[in-house]
Amino acid sequence: MAKVSVILPAAGAGTRFGAGRSKIFQPLCGRAVFLHALELFARRDDVVQMLLVVSSRDADELNGRFGDELRRLGAETVEGGTDRSGSVRNALSRIHDEAELICVHDAVRPCVGTEQIDAVFAAAERTGSAILACPVRATLKHSPDNVHVGQTVPRDGLWEAQTPQVFRGDILSAAYQTGLSATDDAELVQQLGHDVELVEGDARNIKITTPADLAIAECILGK
Ligand code: C5P
Repeated sequence: MAKVSVILPAAGAGTRFGAGRSKIFQPLCGRAVFLHALELFARRDDVVQMLLVVSSRDADELNGRFGDELRRLGAETVEGGTDRSGSVRNALSRIHDEAELICVHDAVRPCVGTEQIDAVFAAAERTGSAILACPVRATLKHSPDNVHVGQTVPRDGLWEAQTPQVFRGDILSAAYQTGLSATDDAELVQQLGHDVELVEGDARNIKITTPADLAIAECILGK
């Protein structure tokens, strides 16, 4: 069983959520969203470190309201960057030497299942790079002006990337040394020339972006 360090980016501005405060603090089944995500990893024997990346804007509220809980869960905090890649890059400088794999998981994906985490960890141990993803099932329309329907985009071979995304430590570190940015880690690893394996995930692993997503997550977790 490979030892894993987990980076949880949680430093986004959350402007699409629109509540005037960070969505990581939103209550979900009575507990802040990010605590659900942390707990998924805190109970695993293969996880040796958890790094929660937070904006300096949220640091006081986080430490004031959740400091004891973070210590109980064994999570460390890291200051966020100006974009998601910057946040992950800041956390990479704090990875423990004993970690063989690095898992990056959005703190706003609280519904991922344990079997899915097991599967993507196992694939990364075997291949060096693996991500959870789901085949696209919707009919996709491009709109040239965001008013009218344009071309239908063929969905064959299209997958929606999720997290966790898991990599051998040396591969992810090299990908971030390029200094490039991307909306996920797999893209940076591919730019280095590494293949990234797809592990089929589950549509319930939603990313909480809007208040509607929070209501859906309540249904998923409250089942
Ligand atoms: O904005 P987006 O939905 O892509 O954010 C995905 C994750 O990356 C969220 O958990 C968010 O908090 C995090 N993030 C970050 N630092 C940023 C921007 C986003 O940690 N500067």
